[in-house]
This record gives sequence, structure tokens and C-alpha cells, in this order.
Amino acid sequence: MNTFAFIIHPIDPKRDVSRKYPFLGRLLSERQIDFFSTYFPPVYISKIEGIRSVSSGQEIEGWFIACPFTPRRMLELPEKTVYRKIIQTGRLAERLGADILGLGAFTSVVGDAGLTIARSLDVPVTTGDSYTVYIAVQAVRKAAELMDIPLKQATAAVVGATGSIGQVCAELLADELGRLFLIGRNEEKLREIRDRLAGSTRAELIPSTHMDVLSQAQLILTVTSSLHDVIHPEHLQPGSVVCDVARPRDVSAMVAAARNDILVIDGGMVDVPGPVDFHFNFGFPPAKAYACMAETMALALDGRLEDYTLGKHITRKRVEEIAAIAERHGFGLSGFRSFEREVTPEHIEAVRQRARMANRRL
Ligand SMILES: NC(=O)c1ccc[n+]([C@@H]2O[C@H](COP(=O)([O-])OP(=O)(O)OC[C@H]3O[C@@H](n4cnc5c(N)ncnc54)[C@H](OP(=O)(O)O)[C@@H]3O)[C@@H](O)[C@H]2O)c1
Repeated sequence: MNTFAFIIHPIDPKRDVSRKYPFLGRLLSERQIDFFSTYFPPVYISKIEGIRSVSSGQEIEGWFIACPFTPRRMLELPEKTVYRKIIQTGRLAERLGADILGLGAFTSVVGDAGLTIARSLDVPVTTGDSYTVYIAVQAVRKAAELMDIPLKQATAAVVGATGSIGQVCAELLADELGRLFLIGRNEEKLREIRDRLAGSTRAELIPSTHMDVLSQAQLILTVTSSLHDVIHPEHLQPGSVVCDVARPRDVSAMVAAARNDILVIDGGMVDVPGPVDFHFNFGFPPAKAYACMAETMALALDGRLEDYTLGKHITRKRVEEIAAIAERHGFGLSGFRSFEREVTPEHIEAVRQRARMANRRL
């Protein structure tokens, strides 16, 4: 039986530490957790059982292991210190007997996106970002259909368009849309991406460093590595869809509170095949996982025990390949959630009605 391990880490420090250590989560402040995480060793979280391929019937098992650093710690500490802790966590995966290792959330963002970590470990490594791209774009397509937004004429935006995930999402969406804003902080990098894609894509591409252009977009895919939210209620037009792939989130909780005419969906939730038990609650309903976890699982099921997605330049070819592998074994885009709650057809209909009313008032 092939095996895998997946590295998670605290993102919302108090909430996530409480999932494993309820007492410490209650006792310590966010700042204290940040501080102590520097000295904490890697943590064994749980064994994962019951993932079964729908095509081959083969089963795999795996483990969640945790790198104790919070996103803030990973950005504040010297890169070498962060690499050392992630590699230490990878060594725990090797001792458990994992055949492949996935890097969750910020452990795949830091530095060169897994290259140094993979070179220092014997176990093959993947960031999971190729399948994250595929599922994020699928989610935008599906949400557009549910909200009656015709893709061909739509104006969309990718926020974090210079990032590893953002760049390929922009490339894929640009084939299908009318107009696409590439949003980021670095104008030169954005123009480079526009120039690279221009000519081979359908959409008109507009680089921008201003979030207020979001008010022109009906579809927004956001995937920055910002520690704080970057999308606020005043940025958005009624009836628009925002797919938030970033962890920590890019969309302010104020959007949910103040804008009931917007559909915000969490990017990256996937159905896992088989009677899976994670033996750990990471905030999803049973049998659902993040796309980056699913990439690691799909590779283990397929026997592709090799370094897979690494580095800041994800290729479209890899995205298409992992999509086919994952689909073959029974993984796929799951239903939508928004700020950790299920999005029902009634919720979508209510958003559409409020958006129609708001647009009539404008
Ligand atoms: N849901 C999932 O399954 C899943 C899987 C993997 C990763 N993720 C999440 O995806 C996000 C991005 O990952 P990545 O690997 O693509 O990261 P990345 O390559 O480092 O790219 C990050 C992007 O965010 C931008 N950015 C950073 N800080 C910002 C700020 N304060 N305001 C605006 N833009 C900012 C960067 O712009 P500059 O070029 O200006 O620096 C860059 O475009 C992370 O939050 C990660 O946790 C989610």
C-alpha cells in the first residue's frame, strides 16, 4: 500500500492550535503562539485511512503532520530557519514511512516553493499547487454558471496574479473570458505577465496595482500570500463572485457581514474517494480535503512517487496532467462553502435576487 504525509500548520493561530491542544489554544494569545511556535518541534497530528481509488480500488493511507510555524512566523524568520523546521517536519514523514510528502499552505509559499526542501529530503515532495490551480478555475467556472454570468463576455480579475498559483489561474481564465484584470503589487511583473500571455489568449488583459478596479469585475479569483485581508466590501459590484483560494483568507469577514449581494466561495475544496477518516478536524466536512492535499493523495494512489509540483513556475501541462490523474481516481470539485459554511442553492438564489435589486437601484 502506498503512503503519503501532508504538512499542515496553524493559520488562524488560536483556532488551529485549539484543534490539537484545546487548553493551550485557550490559554495563549495569538502573539504568544507566534513566539512559542519558533521553539516547538514538528507535531504528529493523525493517521489518515480509507482513501480508495474509484478506478483501481486500491487504497492508500497517510498522516497529517504539523510544522508549528504560523504564516507570520514564516515571513518574519530568516528563510533558512523556516526551511530547517519544514525539513525537520519532512524527516518525521520519512520516519513514518511516507512514500510522498505534500506541503500545505505557507510551507509551499516560503522561499523557492519546495525546491530546497525537496533537495534536502529523501521522500519525494509536491506543493499541491497544480491541482489547486485546476480546482480554483473549475470553481470560478461553476460559480459563474450558477450566477448566470456568461464567461465569454465576463470581466474577471485575478488578485495575486504574479504569484505561482495566480499566474497559471490567469493563463487558464484568459482563454475563456472577455476581459481580465491582472492585479498585484508590482507593476513591472504584471506587465511582463500580460506581455507573455497577450496574443495567445482570448481576453483583453489589463495589469493593475489598484484594488478599486475590482468594482468592474463580475468574477474574482484571489490568491495572495498576504497576512491580512485585501478585499473589502466597497471593492465589489452587486452579483459578483469571489473565489478565495488564499490561506489566510484574502476576503475580509466584513464582506460576508455587509454584502449579502455577493457570492464569496472558499476555493480549493475537493471530494475524496472512499470511506476516508482523517482522524482530525481541519475545518472541512467529512470526506472533503483541500486541493493541495488531494494532489498528494492522487499521486500516491497513482504510484507517481516523484517530486511533482515544485518551484514558482507551475506549468499548464502539469495542471492538466494532475487533473486527469485526480479525476481517474475519483477526486473532483466539491460543493461550495463560504466562510466555513455550506453554500446552498437557496443562498445562491437569495444572492441573485439581492444583486438584481441592488443593480436596479444603481
Ligand atoms: N486552498 C488551497 O488548497 C491552497 C493550496 C496552496 C496554497 N494556497 C494559498 O495560496 C496563496 C498563494 O500561494 P502562492 O504559492 O501562489 O504564493 P506566491 O507565489 O508567494 O504568490 C503570492 C502572491 O500574493 C501577492 N501578495 C503577497 N502579499 C500581498 C499583499 N499584502 N497584498 C497584495 N498582494 C500580495 C504576491 O505579490 P508580489 O508579486 O507583489 O509579491 C504574489 O502575487 C497562499 O495564501 C497559500 O496559503 C492555498
